[in-house]
Amino acid sequence: MSLTLTYFGHSAFRLESGENTVLIDPFITGNPSATVSADEVNAETIILTHAHNDHVGDTLEIAKRNNATVIATAELAGWIGSQGVENAIGANHGGTVRFAGGSTKFVPAWHTSSYTTPDGAVAPGVPAGHVVRFGGKTIYFAGDTCLFLDMQLIADEGLDVAVLPIGDHFTMGIDDAARAAGILKATTVIPCHYNTFPPIEQDPAAFRQAVESSTDSTVVIMEPGVSTSL
Ligand code: NI
Ligand code: MN
Repeated sequence: MSLTLTYFGHSAFRLESGENTVLIDPFITGNPSATVSADEVNAETIILTHAHNDHVGDTLEIAKRNNATVIATAELAGWIGSQGVENAIGANHGGTVRFAGGSTKFVPAWHTSSYTTPDGAVAPGVPAGHVVRFGGKTIYFAGDTCLFLDMQLIADEGLDVAVLPIGDHFTMGIDDAARAAGILKATTVIPCHYNTFPPIEQDPAAFRQAVESSTDSTVVIMEPGVSTSL
């Protein structure tokens, strides 16, 4: 089985197995790091970590154009469905949802979750991380979160890859993300949620140094628009 991961900048990723395609937090429009436009991005499954606009991003447009299934925490999925997406699956922490080619298990994330519409803010649900099993690999997308000790339980999932925010300010910064990597024990660690906006400017090479000097994990720094084989 082959698996290709593409980074669109911020926390937006695409997983391609050859047969199936999954997007995670497809924030393309308004993402200063993105090298593609939302109308070039297609998938049959979209997984969301939480409702913030920099994660929901272009979900509604991409889902409607592709008749895609959107997987999110219950209240966020309900709101997505109310916006005209036909296949929105709501679940919650501890639950596993199957989709075309794989599954995702909802795990906790310490953060908030609201969506700002032109009319104001709505607050659909709570944030989550996702343990995605797809293309023969197990990949943890932490979403936006601080460091938390229950990552020990997520490590028990047997992670090939951990995708961790390092931007600080809204999430873990480099030091805590390196501690998270030490707990998670993934073969590969990929940083995200940095250098998109001024408050989250970070040096990913410093993160690599911190992780690789203290764990057995290898850090892969992905440039926006670039793909890597997992
Ligand atoms: Ni957020
Ligand atoms: Mn965010």
